[in-house]
Amino acid sequence: MAVVTGGRRILSSLIASQEELHAGFGGVVPEVAARAHLERLPALVERALEGASVAPADLDRIAVTRGPGLAGCLLVGVGVGEGLASAWSKPLFGVNHLWGHVYAAMLTRPDLEPPLLALVVSGAHSDLVRMPAHGRFDVLGRTRDDAAGEAFDKAARLLGLGYPGGAALDRLARSGDPRRQPLPRPSLPGLEFSFSGLKTALLYRLREMGERVDDRARADLAAAFEESVVESLLAKLRAALDAEPAAEVVVCGGVAANSRLRRRAAEVVEGRARLTIPAHELCTDNAAMVAAAAHYQREPVSAVVDPGLGW
Ligand code: KG4
Ligand code: ZN
Repeated sequence: MAVVTGGRRILSSLIASQEELHAGFGGVVPEVAARAHLERLPALVERALEGASVAPADLDRIAVTRGPGLAGCLLVGVGVGEGLASAWSKPLFGVNHLWGHVYAAMLTRPDLEPPLLALVVSGAHSDLVRMPAHGRFDVLGRTRDDAAGEAFDKAARLLGLGYPGGAALDRLARSGDPRRQPLPRPSLPGLEFSFSGLKTALLYRLREMGERVDDRARADLAAAFEESVVESLLAKLRAALDAEPAAEVVVCGGVAANSRLRRRAAEVVEGRARLTIPAHELCTDNAAMVAAAAHYQREPVSAVVDPGLGW
């Protein structure tokens, strides 16, 4: 739950993390997630208003994610949004979650404007998009199989890191050397991504090594896996820039919290465009980015839930 002004400035931003709730299951349990939203959202509304020092009457609009995402969670969010909009007589804006990830970059860099090229990498998406203007997105490439975040989560599980995996793999990879346990680098023609082969390569390597997988090997494999994903993402970003230059580049979504991706993206984009990566806490899912996206929607978009919503 967040309060944002002018689409650019965060007045308050709260996240009720569900990590602990799902950790015991080794992944997100949709029904548990939806119920936790229902239990936690109402208290967050008051705290977000208090934190921003605003009253409901000060608000222009209510924004809520309508998709893509888990149906139960989206339904709870939209239900709460509808309730607030009706109680406070405010227009309700349904927001595309993917657009939100791109708008997170505008919260981090207030003078950032489209046109821009964005690499959006999350638990369910690895998309390269051009944004010619506010509210317009053209997809250049996406993944054929697993998303980058999903690949990190699966690799983390294979390496015994549990859930949530991406951030844990990031930490482990820092003490590893990617050259000691090289893994294949996925390469598809054009601007498409593929990560399932890399995941299988890691699985087979671990099986083949069996007992020889010690802490050092685990860290080296984490580093190699991370390097393969990051370099394959950036190779396509570079190719998209070669095909059509852009002055502004955004790398966003939960995986943009990854330290190697942040460092390497800066090197790859250097001298070719200005790079914006949202602040760490704005890369992973948050409400501020949804409010920011809604600021640029001219008309209220119906908040009908659409779990499979595309760009
Ligand atoms: O955008 P996000 O918070 O949720 C979705 O919209 O999916 O992205 C979550 C994904 C997860 O797969 C998580 O493992 C990954 O982002 N992630 C990371 C890191 N932090 C989060 N992956 C790699 N390195 C990280 N530091
Ligand atoms: Zn997300």
